[in-house]
Amino acid sequence: MTGTCDGFQRGISYLRISVTDRCNLRCIYCMPPEGVELVSHDDILSFEEILLAVRAAVALGIDKIRITGGEPLVRSGVVELVSMIAAVEGVKDISMTTNGILLDKYADRLVGAGLNRVNISLDTLKYERFKEITRTGTLADTLKGLQAARAAGLTPVKINMVPMRGINDDEVIDFAQMTITSGWHVRFIELMPLNRQGEFIPSHVLHKQIESLGPLVPFFGLTGNGAARYFTLPKAKGTIGFISPVSEPFCEGCNRLRLSAAGMVYPCLFSTDGIDIRTPLRKGVNVDAVKKLLAAAIAAKPKKHLLSEGGTVDTKMSSIGG
Ligand code: 5AD
Ligand code: SF4
Repeated sequence: MTGTCDGFQRGISYLRISVTDRCNLRCIYCMPPEGVELVSHDDILSFEEILLAVRAAVALGIDKIRITGGEPLVRSGVVELVSMIAAVEGVKDISMTTNGILLDKYADRLVGAGLNRVNISLDTLKYERFKEITRTGTLADTLKGLQAARAAGLTPVKINMVPMRGINDDEVIDFAQMTITSGWHVRFIELMPLNRQGEFIPSHVLHKQIESLGPLVPFFGLTGNGAARYFTLPKAKGTIGFISPVSEPFCEGCNRLRLSAAGMVYPCLFSTDGIDIRTPLRKGVNVDAVKKLLAAAIAAKPKKHLLSEGGTVDTKMSSIGG
């Protein structure tokens, strides 16, 4: 176990940084059709401010960084930001969560800058449905992004799929088959009740459904940060992961801290109270002072979140980062 321990003996080694609250899609489970209220550009952390936060995090034993959004690739200069983070001594792993729309354009440069791996959100393989779920996107762009990620050498490339009852749950088997036919790593994420309620499908139901293709054997060899449980189907080069924030929260093994685009540090995805580091950063504080603020956020990590008990939450995924 690495990183500073929180109040429940969990080592915190992983920082998720949302670099923008903007997105080029409007996924139905993440945003209302008109989008969400955006933070003004001046209130978004600059690269220098993000970098100072990374240095402070590393000083606390955090060595894995994920770049998220909104959609991180719509932040201008994001490649440069990756290379700045990669240059911080002590950062061992840099990953990104993206919708893949712009990945075809950026994959090679991101690898050159030091990005190690990528998670790509993809909820359907049907063109019309992709338009319905993302409201604005084109499936071909994300598919090109997937291929580009693999060709550029990002390893592993993981596909995040959120099955929703009556919307795309008829494609679970098709996605599972992609682990055999083309070696993709596919993760099924339980829908969290953020903008929508109701259509969530528990992982154990999917697990059973997928076993119609053959036995699912537990797999432990994939680089990641512990939220997913992985399996393989016979003859598959890719893996199947289940992320179950609703039916089986992974709070016990939680190793992460979150930094929003506007400079709030959140102990948990569902925290309503964060710690503002932007104001102190703009007053010119040093790494040590930011380190103390991050340590306070680590100390404030709750034992578990309320989703498992049927609670709902008012989290803006696009500003805190999924
Ligand atoms: N429930 C589950 N997953 C979500 N994501 C975004 N909103 C939700 C939600 N309400 C996922 C995206 C992406 C990751 C960042 O979070 O599909 O893969
Ligand atoms: Fe954008 Fe991701 Fe939200 Fe979809 S889920 S609207 S891709 S931030």
